[in-house]
Amino acid sequence: MRLTGLLVALAATGVLITGGARAAAATPPAHRAPWWRGAVIYEIYPRSFQDSNGDGRGDLRGIERRLGYLQWLGVDAIWIAPMYPSPQVDFGYDISNYEGVDPRFGSLADMERLIAAAKQHHIRVILDMVLNHTSDRHPWFIAASSSRSDPKHDWYVWSDGKPGRGPNAHDGRVPPNNWVSLFGGSAWQWVPAVHQFYYHAFYRQQPDLNWRNPQVRRAMFAVMRFWLDRGVAGFRLDAVPQLFEDPKLRDERPLGGVNAFGDPILDQSRTGDLPEVHVVMRELRRLVDSYPGDRVLIGETYLPTIQDLDRWYGGARHDELQLPMDMRLGFHGDHDHLDAAAFRRRIMAAESGLHGSEPLFVFDNHDNVRSIDRYGDGRHDPMINELLGSVLLTTRATALLYYGEEIGMHTTPPARRSQVRDPIGIRGWPKEKGRDGERTPMQWTPGPQAGFSTNPRTWLPVPANHATINVQTERADPGSQLNWYRHLIALRRGESALRDGRLRMLDPGDPNVLAYLRGDAGGGIVIAMNCSAVARTVSLHIAAAGVQPVPVETLLTNAPGLRDARSLRNLTLPPYATWIARLRGRPRSSASAN
Ligand code: GLC
Repeated sequence: MRLTGLLVALAATGVLITGGARAAAATPPAHRAPWWRGAVIYEIYPRSFQDSNGDGRGDLRGIERRLGYLQWLGVDAIWIAPMYPSPQVDFGYDISNYEGVDPRFGSLADMERLIAAAKQHHIRVILDMVLNHTSDRHPWFIAASSSRSDPKHDWYVWSDGKPGRGPNAHDGRVPPNNWVSLFGGSAWQWVPAVHQFYYHAFYRQQPDLNWRNPQVRRAMFAVMRFWLDRGVAGFRLDAVPQLFEDPKLRDERPLGGVNAFGDPILDQSRTGDLPEVHVVMRELRRLVDSYPGDRVLIGETYLPTIQDLDRWYGGARHDELQLPMDMRLGFHGDHDHLDAAAFRRRIMAAESGLHGSEPLFVFDNHDNVRSIDRYGDGRHDPMINELLGSVLLTTRATALLYYGEEIGMHTTPPARRSQVRDPIGIRGWPKEKGRDGERTPMQWTPGPQAGFSTNPRTWLPVPANHATINVQTERADPGSQLNWYRHLIALRRGESALRDGRLRMLDPGDPNVLAYLRGDAGGGIVIAMNCSAVARTVSLHIAAAGVQPVPVETLLTNAPGLRDARSLRNLTLPPYATWIARLRGRPRSSASAN
């Protein structure tokens, strides 16, 4: 469907949208197959989304209650962070039973209900699948650690260690190498009953599975079938580059310096992205492809280069994951800042370096300081959030949204160590405050507990800014961040140029304004974003991108002065403003229009 109809100028707010954009979100999407191409996938941290039983924690029935909102926003699928039975040391990423639901979140019947209810709202359900490790309370590990002769012993990664002394020594033996846990300390844990160390990439309560054992593969494939049979649309594969370790257990190379936990920074060459993992990814792909309905595999893939990322798709063979996350666009490092050139470089790398595969872009998740606190400047935060949403939702990519991103929720880290819930924050305080700050309850209303729970004791405190940053207030305000995101999503659904059109950069030398064209003249769409704190006046040279200039029609902007722009010349973008316009009409000659 193309967006047509009355232009509605929202003079008070400076936002301009088309009437069609507002209608589009209510109708079922008209996606071509596969459904995930160009889709909006919304991550839900189930503890923090909506509490339905007043225990101060979110749950599955809470998610079900909010499906109407998610449909209104226009999301195609939700990814639910782990809701399986778990001791909750890593808030669900330590699973003790892969084929159930933790009673804190509900029951298996609740999950089946949620999948069915979501379908009624045209929303698919994607589960988190933790393949790298189980909980140390999983029956497999309890058996494995009971005796070396237990049939499950080899399901985990064990070492006798080597003779030595020191703080990590047990019975005169120390860990076999210098590997450190990503969550602090040695990656090896001694078990007296078997007189061996086991390897854990994360907490010691998360022992790594031994993926070289075919029984492990069979068991994990069986749990994935369990959920595929129940209608889930796919999986987000947790920490999947960590699946294999060097069988010789050789040391990793120190890169110099120490991390927040005081551990040496290592090159991770023996514990991350080993070639064997790709064999498993191909097997997994065959598994999901054996089901109808385009089930999808998403990877949690923090990888340094586009070539590394391309391997996770299977390169030109396209036979591994459909959507490994491109973390290079949204997470530049510790000091993210808006940089038109860096965005341009990374978007173009994904355009040209993935053998035509669909990029998966993301700016926020449950493990990182929220994007607004990384890219924001404290003065223009709403505009900056809208700019980030525009990059996410107008590039040629599938988009991952994290709950609260659409309303501009901030990170609210604990003030004191005694308040920290995430164990890495307790261990790493104060350098590493943990991940509580980006996991605070969803802000639904300006009322008590932000409408998240009836219980004043929520599992993490509700940030005070819920008085203004919340769904209810923003829904009623046409110029809000929430409505901006909704209009962007609607535009993307309604405009084939935004979903499928090729992307060409405009004026690639401009250090401040990021601009590109999606599609072609006579229906193509131009997006221009001012990545700087100073107003910029630009003329966009579309002819240089091989397209004849034509008149334009503004579709969406938060720059009031551009509501009536009719050409690509002399556009003044206020600080951090975004302008989105359609090329229309019969092409004119280069000389007259540009
Ligand atoms: C992933 C998850 C993170 C978890 C870790 C260990 O990085 O996103 O939350 O702590 O894996 O499972």
